[in-house]
Amino acid sequence: MTTAEIRAKYLKFFIGKPRNHKEISPAPLVPENDPTTLFTSSGMQQLVPYLTGENHPEGKRLVDVQPSIRLQDIDEVGDNRHTTFFEMLGNWSLGDYFKAEQLPWVWEFFTKELGLDGNRLYVSCFEGNKEVPRDTESAKIWKKIRVPEDHIFFYGVKENWWSRSGPPNKMPVGEIGGPDSEIFYEFTQVKHDPKFGEKCHPNCECGRFLEIGNSVFIQYQKTKEGLKELSQKNVDFGGGLERIAAAMNDDPDVFKIDAFVLLIKKISSVTGKAYKRNETSMRIIADHMRAANMIIREGVEPSNKQQGYVLRRLIRRSALKVRDLKGKLVGGDLSLNFESDIAKVIEDEVGRFSISLEKGMKQIEKIDSVDSKKAFDLYQTYGFPFEVTQEIFADKGQKIDKDKFQKELEMHQEKSRSASAGKFKGGLADSSEATKKLHTVTHLLHAALRSILGDHVSQKGSNITSDRLRFDFSHKEKLNEDEIKKVEVLINKEIDKDLEVTSETMTLDEAKDAGALAFFGHKYDELVKVYSIGKFSKEVCGGPHVKRLSEIKGHVRINKEESVSSGVRRIYAVIEK
Ligand code: GLY
Repeated sequence: MTTAEIRAKYLKFFIGKPRNHKEISPAPLVPENDPTTLFTSSGMQQLVPYLTGENHPEGKRLVDVQPSIRLQDIDEVGDNRHTTFFEMLGNWSLGDYFKAEQLPWVWEFFTKELGLDGNRLYVSCFEGNKEVPRDTESAKIWKKIRVPEDHIFFYGVKENWWSRSGPPNKMPVGEIGGPDSEIFYEFTQVKHDPKFGEKCHPNCECGRFLEIGNSVFIQYQKTKEGLKELSQKNVDFGGGLERIAAAMNDDPDVFKIDAFVLLIKKISSVTGKAYKRNETSMRIIADHMRAANMIIREGVEPSNKQQGYVLRRLIRRSALKVRDLKGKLVGGDLSLNFESDIAKVIEDEVGRFSISLEKGMKQIEKIDSVDSKKAFDLYQTYGFPFEVTQEIFADKGQKIDKDKFQKELEMHQEKSRSASAGKFKGGLADSSEATKKLHTVTHLLHAALRSILGDHVSQKGSNITSDRLRFDFSHKEKLNEDEIKKVEVLINKEIDKDLEVTSETMTLDEAKDAGALAFFGHKYDELVKVYSIGKFSKEVCGGPHVKRLSEIKGHVRINKEESVSSGVRRIYAVIEK
């Protein structure tokens, strides 16, 4: 079965009776309103407000397919199952159905809809800890649907707890999560390797078992005092599409599924090498370039900052692997089968890197023992991303101190890229309040720009970090000082009125008829939420907002205005106390 067929079957199964889910659009891969992470890494990211009590316009039962990137797995890529980019099948109960419905449905989907052999499936439940009881309820449900007792395993927080930031002790205050029940496929042809432990079990790393889905019971929120129960019990199912396809193939190599086959074939023809015996390098190239393709689609270009740096790192690491395989690197080597505008971005980046690559490699040959200074030199002079240098020297048995490398970077005033490196760890800061405020200010800014400059102004993009907003909009000329001042004064006048922020649900057409602004770069669902700030602003939106403008606790200052492209301007603004 192809990934497209699995995706379609999953959506149909949950949309159909008696499950009655509504399909929602996935969030963009580069999040607009979440400064804590570079990429969307789970379906939950766009649904947090609704998991904590806000009404979702499409109801309490949702289903989606969320393209995701998890950079924390990047070092594992090269084995037969880890990828950075993947698609997550997700079904959601927002305080509606719970374990008794969810687990039998998941079982039915895997065994009846997809036809996986139930004897090859294993499940796991949360074993309990001081704060959260053992999940005997899930185990009972699994038994009731005839999962044999020896296919049901219990694990602790490390394995059977899910939140965006990991186990409870890693969750920042405000973060939500809960215990989960996972489902694994057994590749009986893979012999257990005792180097991973005496006995094999679903979470053993030997490769005999592959997790293909998890049902998270999101019912807790972290507070200063510990975990507290949310007012509603939610379900968040996440099924890894690529892994499910591998289980359907009954082949543990995820890179043999249809989504990778053509890429691997093309890499083989570019390098003149067979996949067999070159699996590790080819998997890295295939994974990284598939991810690069998706990132470029979101408008990201290779750079030394944030998402652009990740893209650069993915392309340059792949370039090095191609060079290793074929002995040289040519500009078009990584264009693979990508569309021409994507291929052009890749080709340009490979072109830039190939100029310094050979010189850098010669330099590397001369280095007997590497240190952070030499790694920095390779970065600065030859464009070798730190992680690429780290990998080259790890193959020679040498380590480089990342903290010292960061210090070298900071000394060269590259503070912003260091900031982004912190995000690679996937850690979440507690910045939800700042995000709410800045996001609400974005609405005010949009309305104020239209009021001062004219109705031709419309949103072209938006990005928020924990301390500033960035807003792109259509307008031909540079804003003069007087215009900037007027926009600031107007926004701050509205903030001082302490207007209320209200929302209502309607169809997209009704929203447009009501005069609501919408960002047409977005794909909207049938029903949308329209946020009004008094009579000043009305916008279709799914982002987080304050309830009243006094919560902003400050005034807005525009600290930069610049051109992005022809007819598009960009504003950076901050909130000052
Ligand atoms: N369903 C939670 C996750 O793995 O993303």
